Amino acid sequence: MMTRFLFSSCLLFVGCTIDEPVCFAPRPGAPPATRLSELGLISDVDTLTPGPGVLPYQVALPLYADGADKHRWLWLPPDTHLSYSEDRWGVPVGARFVKTFVLSNDAGTQETRIETRLLERTQTGFREGTYLWNAEQTDAECSGGNVDVALPGLVFHVPGTSRCETCHLEGENSHALGLRTRQMNVGGQIDALVDAGVLDRADAPALRASLPDPFGDAPLDQRAQAYLDVNCGNCHFDQGYAAGTGVFFDLGHALENACRKTGAVQGRTVVISPGRSSASELIARMQSTNPFVHMPQGPSHVPDEPGIALVAEWIDSLPVQECEP
Ligand code: HEC
Ligand code: HEC
Repeated sequence: MMTRFLFSSCLLFVGCTIDEPVCFAPRPGAPPATRLSELGLISDVDTLTPGPGVLPYQVALPLYADGADKHRWLWLPPDTHLSYSEDRWGVPVGARFVKTFVLSNDAGTQETRIETRLLERTQTGFREGTYLWNAEQTDAECSGGNVDVALPGLVFHVPGTSRCETCHLEGENSHALGLRTRQMNVGGQIDALVDAGVLDRADAPALRASLPDPFGDAPLDQRAQAYLDVNCGNCHFDQGYAAGTGVFFDLGHALENACRKTGAVQGRTVVISPGRSSASELIARMQSTNPFVHMPQGPSHVPDEPGIALVAEWIDSLPVQECEP
């Protein structure tokens, strides 16, 4: 078993907060449980097999997380279902989403479990919480997060529970971010969910939006904009945490940033300089390792080289445009 240790990010960053642990109850009305194994979500911890009624699912385009892989599961209360829409799906009160972050070795034969994030639909929005795995890998414990976990080759930042809302938002604006048609439309997943009675209905396959694999065969423009949608668009949209910047990256909006003036923390004067990735502030922000400058803001601190190369290739492919000084 790999050894690892935890240390508080307060050593690394100024102004950090100690976030309150949000512990979940095994069932409504029961007292909150500090251990993940008490929640009935896992039936076999050795193989990380989901518990009864807990369904694994995938998203078309995962949020980049410093190289970690993720296992995604969902659980719905009896006699409830997800409701289809062209974009964000409806989620019944009591539904739970479980995302376990693991670091795989190079051969892909061994996984180290880092944290399991939980999201529960409530009457008024979503509750978010984090369970941290122990070094023995036998269970995870409810935690406020905001710690760095040292693993071979990587210091992984587990965000504090107060940070979830920057992307998942608060109260009635909060969202299960992967539960939208363009993310769930992968393989035959949508039809399988309808057949299983988990999803109420779906549009005909040809009408369903989907996000392409950013490193697959789809046209460059679509791949780059899909990458920006998932990794940036959850904050950079008209109701998001970064709405005040007026810089939007949700699907269909990225090109609006061509020649758009910016505060230039990294020395470029425009967000996107068409045809010139090196003059585009967005690329410089993605490359920065300064946590106060780095984009995407939030838990990820290790620049995503393939993602940066993709967005740079797209900007370089745009017809050159002279932006007004
Ligand atoms: C930087 C933005 C960001 C932050 C911060 C963030 N998430 Fe997420 N989260 C996402 C995105 C994007 C998805 C969907 C894509 C995916 O699953 O990779 C997601 C998916 C999830 C899911 C699966 C259900 C769903 O919404 O699709 C859970 C559970 C989850 N997050 C929990 C948390 C918790 C708990 C926190 C805080 C400790 C947190 N997240 C912080 C962006 C974020
Ligand atoms: C967790 C939310 C969040 C995510 C995710 C995020 N950003 Fe940001 N972004 C912000 C906030 C808040 C600001 C304003 C503060 C600042 O300038 O640092 C900002 C500012 C920016 C700016 C400067 C905007 C201006 O005012 O001119 C750029 C460019 C930018 N982000 C690009 C990106 C890119 C590219 C991604 C994805 C790779 C991304 N951001 C992901 C929150 C986010």
